[in-house]
Amino acid sequence: MNSNIILIGFMGCGKTSVGERIAQHMGYTFADTDHMIEQDTGMEISTIFSEKGEEYFRDLETETIRKLADKGDKMVISTGGGLPMRECNARILNKLGFVVYLKAAKDTVLARLAGDASRPLLAGGNAEEKVGRLLDYREPMYEAAAHLIAETDGRTFEEIIGEIVRNYEIIIKPQTE
Ligand code: S3P
Repeated sequence: MNSNIILIGFMGCGKTSVGERIAQHMGYTFADTDHMIEQDTGMEISTIFSEKGEEYFRDLETETIRKLADKGDKMVISTGGGLPMRECNARILNKLGFVVYLKAAKDTVLARLAGDASRPLLAGGNAEEKVGRLLDYREPMYEAAAHLIAETDGRTFEEIIGEIVRNYEIIIKPQTE
């Protein structure tokens, strides 16, 4: 297993905000799969969904984490919310390093995403119903793919990051030094 830290979880659970802070704290490089896909294609995620379709986007996600697997260590990687749903992706993440599920309740997600039009899967219709259904379906897969489940509801960044770094240092670092 490589010694990267990988953040998984639902849209709006705080993967980017937490990831950037951990990277800064550890002196690691920060990578974000959505951002990498936008850079590589020159297209926004919502345009990729509308012009090329979801399967095309999912293939790009798999390609992106394969590329990251070739890059080595000392990265904090924030992943798109649907990425661990593909079994082959979950296996690649497991090899990439310490996988952390940032767990957030439906109401927290809804509050964080209110007014955000950048998530194609939540566009149109009843957001509460969509988030509820997708979260119920995905939760077991997030939990199965993770080495650590970090609760985010009602906690500060310091608390969440402290828990992740402590566990990472106990579980991963001694094996890699
Ligand atoms: C998605 C989550 C988004 C982005 C795309 C699909 C999903 O990333 O990859 O809109 O399937 O949950 P964030 O989790 O960073 O919002």
